[in-house]
Amino acid sequence: MSTADDMTRRTALTRARYNRIAPMYDAMEWLTERTAFGAWRQQLWTAVPAGRVLEVGVGTGKNLSYYPSTAQVTAIDLSERMLERARRRAADLGARVDLRLMDVQHLEFADGAFDAAVATFVFCSVPDPLAGLHELGRVVRPGGDIWLLEHMRVNRPFVGTLMDMLNPFVVRVMGANINRRTVENVRRAELTLVSVQELRGELVRLIHARP
Ligand SMILES: C[S@@+](CC[C@H](N)C(=O)[O-])C[C@H]1O[C@@H](n2cnc3c(N)ncnc32)[C@H](O)[C@@H]1O
Repeated sequence: MSTADDMTRRTALTRARYNRIAPMYDAMEWLTERTAFGAWRQQLWTAVPAGRVLEVGVGTGKNLSYYPSTAQVTAIDLSERMLERARRRAADLGARVDLRLMDVQHLEFADGAFDAAVATFVFCSVPDPLAGLHELGRVVRPGGDIWLLEHMRVNRPFVGTLMDMLNPFVVRVMGANINRRTVENVRRAELTLVSVQELRGELVRLIHARP
């Protein structure tokens, strides 16, 4: 199988996994949303500047209520079932957001079309994270902002190895990899790292980067 065929297959698998868990997704995250994620989302979106903002991997739309009123947000997701839920949430909240079915690995936007891009808990499941990060660097204008709130591999010998061992099982059930090296991936995608803040030790970090 060629590399391109393998990536197409892995992307289809990711879409199918999120379509499958979409009806349970909010319930699965209910507790963590209230005890941690909500505050981290608030912190991230407070830092997002006014202007044209792209949210990738919008999921069921958990960030919608945090969007700044000064931002014109376009939000995309690979999974039509997750996106359906985001549409419903946007209607309930009366949120102004342009929701589209799209793959972050192949964004259908012009170079520099956005002032900022945001992803929360997304690059753990994008099949080719470098391709997705490259795309963010392309569609955000020079000097613009890229904010990533992500869980990732812990760089400690025992815990890191355990995460590597458990990853194949977790990715099958949840659709997310627990051993991504997202800070390194940001560097490898030739984005400029502005800051990395540890929110739950090395496990969850808030990354600010620029194209
Ligand atoms: C763990 S969920 C996070 C959803 C949301 N950002 C949140 O914070 O609750 C990951 C989301 O990324 C989406 N996703 C995965 N790969 C993607 C891709 N290649 N392009 C766009 N979205 C993708 C999934 O469909 C899913 O909705």
